[in-house]
Amino acid sequence: GKGNYAHFMQKEIFEQPAVIGDTLHSFINPATQAIKLPDMPFNIGEATRLTIVACGTSFYAGLVAKHWIERYAGLGVDVDVASEFRYRCPPLPKGGIALFISQSGETLDTLAALRYAKSKGQKILSIVNVAESTIARESDVVLQTFAGPEIGVASTKAFTTQLTVLACLAVTIGRENGTLSKEAEAAIVHALTELPKQAAEVLHHDEEIRQLALNIADARDVLYLGRGLGYPIAMEGALKLKEISYIHAEGYAAGEMKHGPIALIDQSVPIIVIAPSDELFEKTASNMQEAAARGGRVIFLSDAQGLATVGDIASATVELPKVADFVAPILYTIPVQMLAYHVAVHKGTDVDQPRNLAKSVTVE
Ligand code: F6R
Repeated sequence: GKGNYAHFMQKEIFEQPAVIGDTLHSFINPATQAIKLPDMPFNIGEATRLTIVACGTSFYAGLVAKHWIERYAGLGVDVDVASEFRYRCPPLPKGGIALFISQSGETLDTLAALRYAKSKGQKILSIVNVAESTIARESDVVLQTFAGPEIGVASTKAFTTQLTVLACLAVTIGRENGTLSKEAEAAIVHALTELPKQAAEVLHHDEEIRQLALNIADARDVLYLGRGLGYPIAMEGALKLKEISYIHAEGYAAGEMKHGPIALIDQSVPIIVIAPSDELFEKTASNMQEAAARGGRVIFLSDAQGLATVGDIASATVELPKVADFVAPILYTIPVQMLAYHVAVHKGTDVDQPRNLAKSVTVE
């Protein structure tokens, strides 16, 4: 049941500190603090290329993974939505690995893409939440997210646990192919183990985010901006808002704004900026300034350092814990989920069963 929560989605948002912890515990050896994935019938350090295929929120997890794996493991990664990938007949490289990400493990397009990649000689990895699923059964190696059953149609804890597993995968590839130093690996593992506690801190902002949501509920359009690892989180935030509140939202790379979407901005458009104080911060902050100068109502998600620098430009801020750059996308997902949730509750939509959507999409 939902326990004391009003909706499954809210319960599942609040379960994230625990399920991120459970997922980490299954991949980090507590004695050595080393990441250990299940044994694989191939050497992942010898992969020539990684092809990631998924749909919806799981696709956004793939985009975060691309950034991690290219940057920290030096392996080239392609990411595709399954419904596009499967009909393009893409050539797949010798020695390539294909990775399918799916909460349900039953998404038809993702399964068809898996079968195609297998027919092209790729080694098949999957990340699923449902261990007994078709995608799991047809994979060479399954990495499970330990999110527990996700009942709300909008994916929340499945996404953050997918990211947790993908972080462990990125570290493993980097270690096996010699790209990631022992020190860098130890720093990432440390940052990951801090996450459950920091995620719990973010949940303490629930009432503050509920208040912010009241000012968004009557918007017609909402923009989400992020850079680097923040960009897929901007898209995920926009998808969450669309699917449960029915407000039109777009996630954009902050640097793309001036190539078109800035034309949308006026006083009526809330702009959610996702900008931890990382090396890209100043660039994103200047995009935020451009948006604010055109009358946009900026809601700024950052840490104390980021807020101290440019927080006064924003019409509202949420202060998140300062975290290592690597893990920031996992943490910054939580406030955008909470925001979408509270907007939907305020509008009175069916949060757990949004119109026109199904939890598991087993048709094309
Ligand atoms: C969004 C959402 C969907 C799913 C997508 C893939 O909140 O839930 O976009 O992420 O349908 O589903 P799985 O991961 O089960 O393959």
